[in-house]
Amino acid sequence: MRIAINTGGGDAPGLNAAIRAATLTALSKGWEVFGIRNGYGSLYTDDPFIPLTASIVKRITMQGGTILGAANRGNPFEYPYQKEDGTWAAEDRSDEIVKMFKKHKIDALVAIGGDGSMYIAHKLVKKGIQIVGVPKTIDNDIYGCDVTLGFDTAVSTATEAIDKITTTAEAHQRVMVVEVMGRYAGWIALHAGLSASADVILIPEIPFIIDDIVNKIKSVESRGKEYAIVVVAEGATEKDGERFVRGKKIGQAELLGGIGEFLEKKLGKLTGKESRSLVLGHLQRGGMPTTYDRLISLRFGSAAIRCIDDGDFNKLVVMRENRIQRIPISEVAEKVKKVQTDSDTVITARDIGVSFGNESER
Ligand code: F6P
Repeated sequence: MRIAINTGGGDAPGLNAAIRAATLTALSKGWEVFGIRNGYGSLYTDDPFIPLTASIVKRITMQGGTILGAANRGNPFEYPYQKEDGTWAAEDRSDEIVKMFKKHKIDALVAIGGDGSMYIAHKLVKKGIQIVGVPKTIDNDIYGCDVTLGFDTAVSTATEAIDKITTTAEAHQRVMVVEVMGRYAGWIALHAGLSASADVILIPEIPFIIDDIVNKIKSVESRGKEYAIVVVAEGATEKDGERFVRGKKIGQAELLGGIGEFLEKKLGKLTGKESRSLVLGHLQRGGMPTTYDRLISLRFGSAAIRCIDDGDFNKLVVMRENRIQRIPISEVAEKVKKVQTDSDTVITARDIGVSFGNESER
């Protein structure tokens, strides 16, 4: 067997552990392993593959990023190109990828990616490429799996950052708004916000009402706490409002951001308190993976090779009830795993007094 490994979309801590486990497991079966350089985009170049050996994947379990490089542009079905008049358009270049795989006699692809990568994988499967997916995203929003690789590290990073923001918020009696990642789902905001004792957590699943946030800050203050912490997911919206979009390029997801700054201004004005905002941004994607992320990434990477060995293609290896299972990629493509607003995590947060910015409607 000759297999290729791709790390598509934004990077996440744990990618290297998954690459290492997949490589070593495949090598132990006598297979050849190739990494795709910088995502699908490199498949149109003359030198897209990095041969993966035991020495190349040595001591990478604990490294952040990806030794292969990542790219969240280069969707082969919507590949951007510049027209003669200078404007940009998109074209379908997926057939070139199929040809490239045939030319290099690649039997199967391990696609380590998030929702966008699974969407592309699903379409490539229809073109005859044999794929096994590994769920990766700090956003933890891939449908069908309890947890994705990278999420635990991102939550730990965000929690630590909010802890630090809290001490300065208290010293200056300020409202601090911390914007975290989470395009369609508020997993990071919920888990980090709750763990770091935020007063308000705003997530895409629960559109917020500004007055409810103001009321929460005032009630906190009336009880003698002169600062407040608001954690907001980048994709959260005001009730009847729109997401804050900073830009959109062909073949790429919208670039979000700005909700934190919006809330800083609004809350400062409406509460009369000094406020500041901070965007944690890509910090959440960086750094060494936690022990938990290392472990699930190793388990995912190795499980993907066993899946290929069984000839069980077009599956995503997922973690469910702490067991690795396999589900069809078609079941997850174009779906999102949202926070259940009646989950015990949300109920726990409400029970201990966290506001989700919608109390007046309950
Ligand atoms: O990895 C997912 C994600 O972290 C989203 O939450 C965020 O919107 C996006 O990546 C940003 O990606 P980039 O700035 O790398 O395009």
